Amino acid sequence: MVAAIAWIGTSFYYIALDLHLLPPRRPDVEDGVGGEVWEIHGGGFYRVEKYRVAPKELPEPLHWFKWEAYTTWLSGFFLFVVLYYASASSTLVDRSVADVAPWLAVVLSCSLLLAAWVIYDGLCLWLERNDRALAVLLAIGIVGAAYGTSHLFAPRAAYLQVGAMIGTIMAANVLFVIIPGQRELVRAKREGRDPDPSYGIKGKQRSVHNNYLTLPVVFAMLSGHFPVTYGHSFSWAVLVAMMAIGAWIRHAFNLHHRGVPLRGLWAIPVTAAAAIAAVAVWLRPASTPPATAGSVTAGKAVFRSAGCASCHTLRDAGATGTVGPNLDRAKPSRELVLERVTNGLGVMPSFRGRLSSAQIEAVAAYVSHVSGR
Ligand code: HEC
Repeated sequence: MVAAIAWIGTSFYYIALDLHLLPPRRPDVEDGVGGEVWEIHGGGFYRVEKYRVAPKELPEPLHWFKWEAYTTWLSGFFLFVVLYYASASSTLVDRSVADVAPWLAVVLSCSLLLAAWVIYDGLCLWLERNDRALAVLLAIGIVGAAYGTSHLFAPRAAYLQVGAMIGTIMAANVLFVIIPGQRELVRAKREGRDPDPSYGIKGKQRSVHNNYLTLPVVFAMLSGHFPVTYGHSFSWAVLVAMMAIGAWIRHAFNLHHRGVPLRGLWAIPVTAAAAIAAVAVWLRPASTPPATAGSVTAGKAVFRSAGCASCHTLRDAGATGTVGPNLDRAKPSRELVLERVTNGLGVMPSFRGRLSSAQIEAVAAYVSHVSGR
């Protein structure tokens, strides 16, 4: 997250900077300067000039922005390995979704990261001049990835997998397209020739893609904290909706930087807010009726037969397990029990598919009731 903040910050800043550029007005402006912008920040005025191609002399030192992207990918992948691949049987795989061997799930996950880049890069090369068709195909690709992974991995892992696929595309854009393009600029300058313009065009296209993908990826990175989203039975559609809203919001910023006044833009924030509200209404937890004596008794039987006792302590059930939290002390709410039993977390397995939703309801009513909630 920290590296991503730095990366996304530079992405937002440079897109805004580019869109703010005006033709230089000073008479003594240096040859080759195509645009300038005045800014005030942190107690000083800044004048930034952008060269159409390159300045006469190659400046020294020249600052590059690439480690933000690489660090985001490397640390993100490292965390994915530690938190998901290393415990794939309980975090990456959910038997009720797809009964894949843990090692196979890891192989599939890595292969999908690679495939995402290969397919995306292929599409960009094929549709170099047709931004609209490219955008439509990329959107279809993301919907396909969300749908496919939701039928392959545990719900929480599926969200991260889609985020990691998009993040891989973004980091690879920097590594394989944007930075080599900049190297070409520097090389051409050193050799005193005109740089190959195709690099610049490609680099710009990829950095615009990256810009639109930032908010969707941020949502995926943080989604592990929002079980209400990935725990939904149409989790893939929820993910697509949140990502689409993210890109839509980014679009409003970009139009505004380009000079479209807020009053010409109001439709975007309004529809984005309405869409978020609609998603929230769609995801709202069903109101659960208060525990009845019947459901509490049924829940006790479920608690015993499902093996909760082997990991948890709960006095009423005579359970003395110590693997998971002591439920008499944790006093979990009914919603928390529902969530945990349905989706699992870490060592706690998911019981979706093993217990019916009525049984899960019952055990939630029971545990929250007898632990004193
Ligand atoms: C294999 C051991 C294991 C089994 C079986 C198991 N749990 Fe858990 N449970 C855990 C662990 C470990 C955690 C802590 C997860 C975490 O926060 O990382 C946990 C967390 C919970 C929590 C959340 C407690 C809190 O305050 O965070 C609830 C509620 C819960 N389990 C209920 C159940 C119920 C009900 C069952 C039976 C249907 C069950 N568990 C079966 C290991 C288990």
